[in-house]
This record gives sequence, C-alpha cells and structure tokens, in this order.
Amino acid sequence: MDQQITEGKAIISVPKTEKISKAMPAFYNPVMKLNRDISVLVLKAWSKNQLNIALPLAGTGVRAIRFLKELPKSKIRSIAVNDANPTAIKYIRANLKKNKIKRKISISNKDASQFLLENSAMDYIDIDPFGTPNPFLDSAVKRITNEGILAVTATDTAPLCGTYPEACLRKYWAVSKRSPIMHETGLRILIRKVQLIGAQYQKALVPLYAYAKEHYFRAFFSCKKSKAECQRLLQQHGMLNDIGPFAKKVTEKADKKDKETSKFTETIVEESSIQAVGFYDIHHLCKEYKFPQIPKREAIIGKIRKKGYKASPTHFTGEGIRSDIPLKELLKLF
Ligand SMILES: C[S@@+](CC[C@H](N)C(=O)[O-])C[C@H]1O[C@@H](n2cnc3c(N)ncnc32)[C@H](O)[C@@H]1O
Repeated sequence: MDQQITEGKAIISVPKTEKISKAMPAFYNPVMKLNRDISVLVLKAWSKNQLNIALPLAGTGVRAIRFLKELPKSKIRSIAVNDANPTAIKYIRANLKKNKIKRKISISNKDASQFLLENSAMDYIDIDPFGTPNPFLDSAVKRITNEGILAVTATDTAPLCGTYPEACLRKYWAVSKRSPIMHETGLRILIRKVQLIGAQYQKALVPLYAYAKEHYFRAFFSCKKSKAECQRLLQQHGMLNDIGPFAKKVTEKADKKDKETSKFTETIVEESSIQAVGFYDIHHLCKEYKFPQIPKREAIIGKIRKKGYKASPTHFTGEGIRSDIPLKELLKLF
C-alpha cells in the first residue's frame, strides 16, 4: 500500500509503513526533510548555474523532484538519478509522472559507484546512503568537477561518536570518543575522511557547510583540483575551518516562515563566526564541577559576552555554548 506525501513542492507516493527501515520496498524517511531542505538552500546559495547533478542513491526520487520544482530554472541543466533497488526505480518513474516532470532527467538502476563511473563529470553529487558513505566516496570524488559540490550524509553515528571506536578507526581512520562534544568530533572525523579520499586524487574538498542533526551527519564540500590546496587542507586537520561566509548565504535563502530551518541555519551562522573547536556543555559542566543549579544557556552567553569573549549557542545540542572563553574563566561565571 502507498501513501501520498507532500514535501516542499513535491507530491510523491511512498510505501505505507509502520516503521522506517531499509526493508521498505522503496526508501523514504520524512525525518530527512530538513536534509533535503538544506540541500535546496545550498544549491540556491551557490552562484553557479546550469548544473549537471547526480543523485546516485535516489530512493523515491523526492530530492530530484524538489530540486526541479524548487530551484530556479537556470540552476539545473540535467539530473541523473539512480538507485540499485528496481522497486525504487518504479516509484521514481511514477513520482516524476505525478509531478509532470519529463525534461532534464535520466534514470538508471545500477550500483551507485558503477553509475558514477559510467557517467561524465558532475557539478553536484549527493551521496545519501544507508549508514556509511565509504563505498561511494572514491567514485564520487573521481566524478566531481573542479569547483563542483560534493554532498555527503553519514548515518552511522555510533562509530563516529565513540560507541564503537574500533569500527571508527577501521572505517574513518580516526579514534572516536564518547564525550559531550561527540557530535562535533564525529562530524570532523567524517569531514577529514572525505578529504583524505579527495587528496588521493589531488582534489581539495573544502567544507562549505556542515552539521549534525537527528541520527545523521551532513557535509557539503567545494572541490578544487590543486595539489597545493590539498596540502593546505591536510595541514588544517585538527584546526578550525571558517565556514562563515557561505553559511550566511544559506540562511539568507531560508524561508523565514519555516521557523525550524531558519533557526537551525541562523545558529550555524552564529557559531561559525567563533574561532573555537568544540563547545561547552552546560549540563556536563554542572555535573563535573558539582554546581547545584543548572543556569540558563542565554544567561551564561550574556555573561561571557560581558567579559569581552565571544559566545553563541551551538546547533549540536540545546545545552551547548561555543565560546573562546577559557574554561577557568567560564567556571567563575557559573
Ligand atoms: C537513504 S536512502 C536514499 C534516500 C534518498 N536520497 C532521499 O532523499 O529520499 C538510500 C538508497 O540507496 C539505495 N542503495 C543502497 N545501496 C546502493 C548501491 N550500492 N547502489 C545504488 N543504490 C543503493 C537504496 O535502495 C536506497 O534507496
């Protein structure tokens, strides 16, 4: 049985299910709406037009349909959608028909890596897998154009956040650790891994926009073919990358009536202007230093600013403060 869903400007049929899982005849997860919303915003914020887009793991086709219906006409030259699941392809075809989309789109039913390698270079590639993006990174990096954008989702947050540090070492070549800032460190581990794959092909993958939300990590990289730029990036591992200017453009494109997306993107702008790796978790500090009362986040942010330091909320958690204040100074403010 199917159900009809409206997401953004797309009207799609998806399998009716009690539980969202890989076992669905064709995969659609409503929780990932924000993931698709932000993809639309990133493409709107990007100045480049006439893009050749590849969606190698397309599911029901919702992302492709939203791109075609929500982005300005000049933005897209072509979209190549693919999924290994033949039933997903049936849904994609039916959903394109439902949305009266006939032009600019091609469909294939292959393994994602094969699909990418058999295609020509693409300006935007979106890797949106079940779990780790690892199996698809090599082919995606090979096919992303110079100055193109590679978007990567990872839903295997358990290894990345330190629940399975050995799995993280195997899959991401880094040791993860459970801690109050594990979502930020996990996101950074993912970014570094993608950059290491890029560097093998002399493609510097500069993070344009990145965040953690619900059960997943997401990062958008701008690709620059340059050995020197790769070296520069690799030297920055462990340091803070400034994503501020692009984050501003993304939030400007957000529909202010959509409070959730606006607030989320505004917080990212605010925190990305602060040169600090990691953040302070108020609950964790109160527990660690045995403060009897948990202060309000906004109150502490105000006090930090009064002291002349920078401070902002972080999108990673409702209890987090990103700031350049040293811990010793911060504790006095509690
Ligand atoms: C998380 S879903 C994608 C959801 C979709 N991008 C969206 O926004 O709704 C992952 C998709 O990848 C497909 N898939 C899994 N392994 C694949 C592979 N090796 N090659 C191509 N598609 C694959 C699955 O059939 C599934 O539709």
